[in-house]
Amino acid sequence: MTQSIAFIGGGNMGFALAAGYLANAEGARITVADPMTDQLARFEALPIEVTTDNRHAIADATTVVLAVKPQILELVARDLAAHLDGQLVISVAAGVPIAALETWLGDSTPIVRCMPNTPAFLGKGMTGLVANSNVTDEARAAADALLRAVGDVEWFTQDSDLDTVTALSGSGPAYFFAMIEAMVDAGVALGMTRESALRLTARTAEGAAAMVLDGEDPGVLRVNVTSPGGTTERALSILQNGDFAQTVGQAVNGARDRSVELKEEFGNG
Ligand SMILES: NC(=O)c1ccc[n+]([C@@H]2O[C@H](COP(=O)([O-])OP(=O)(O)OC[C@H]3O[C@@H](n4cnc5c(N)ncnc54)[C@H](OP(=O)(O)O)[C@@H]3O)[C@@H](O)[C@H]2O)c1
Repeated sequence: MTQSIAFIGGGNMGFALAAGYLANAEGARITVADPMTDQLARFEALPIEVTTDNRHAIADATTVVLAVKPQILELVARDLAAHLDGQLVISVAAGVPIAALETWLGDSTPIVRCMPNTPAFLGKGMTGLVANSNVTDEARAAADALLRAVGDVEWFTQDSDLDTVTALSGSGPAYFFAMIEAMVDAGVALGMTRESALRLTARTAEGAAAMVLDGEDPGVLRVNVTSPGGTTERALSILQNGDFAQTVGQAVNGARDRSVELKEEFGNG
């Protein structure tokens, strides 16, 4: 079935999803609503209808994507609730649980909540998704195709699983940025140009991730490149002396806890 998708919010994530989906799904009809005509201007080069009227955008949509900031989601959702007619609603808002969305949109609404991450802007995103019990197989496939257009997807069964998704892939790009920054600074301190150090480090991160995604266990890969008495062994023992694995574990737990707190702040319905 040809999808007719309305994006409410044409900011960074709305643009990435709309442009990504358009490039992957032939024949899809896309409308983007945003009160800012500046934001809508960047959709001009694409075959996308734009409007400043959210209700107009959803009028004949089969799927509605809520891509506004979490702080205004309640206002936007409540305003649209009476104008929905069984369409699938997909929320990309961080920290707003399905229970809150059901309260605002009506508990018979099919809802998919998802957590994408910033590499989605380059089509390399990782998105965790959960669906409520109103979501049919067909609607689930539509949500899957939409998020797959900007990267990889993984489905979960519980809303609370998205707190862990947030702590791993949602906030995760920043952990790798921090690692890359630290390695680059070390390379520069050893006399390399920043440009060369950045290229060496980022390509290494990309290659290491590709080897893991190819199916190898990261622990096995690590052992395979760690010759006894060699350079890698020296570096890893220094990381281990700094409690590397424990520190990363604490960081991920901290992010998960903060995700739970944020849900309580603006997501209680
Ligand atoms: N960016 C990310 O990496 C990322 C990752 C995961 C999840 N998300 C989620 O994606 C959502 C959007 O984030 P973003 O980074 O794309 O934010 P953004 O760039 O600020 O985009 C939100 C857009 O919604 C517009 N908007 C405000 N009020 C509206 C209304 N009443 N109706 C329709 N549109 C309205 C905003 O316009 P104004 O500029 O006038 O406010 C803005 O253009 C958030 O809920 C966030 O949690 C983002």
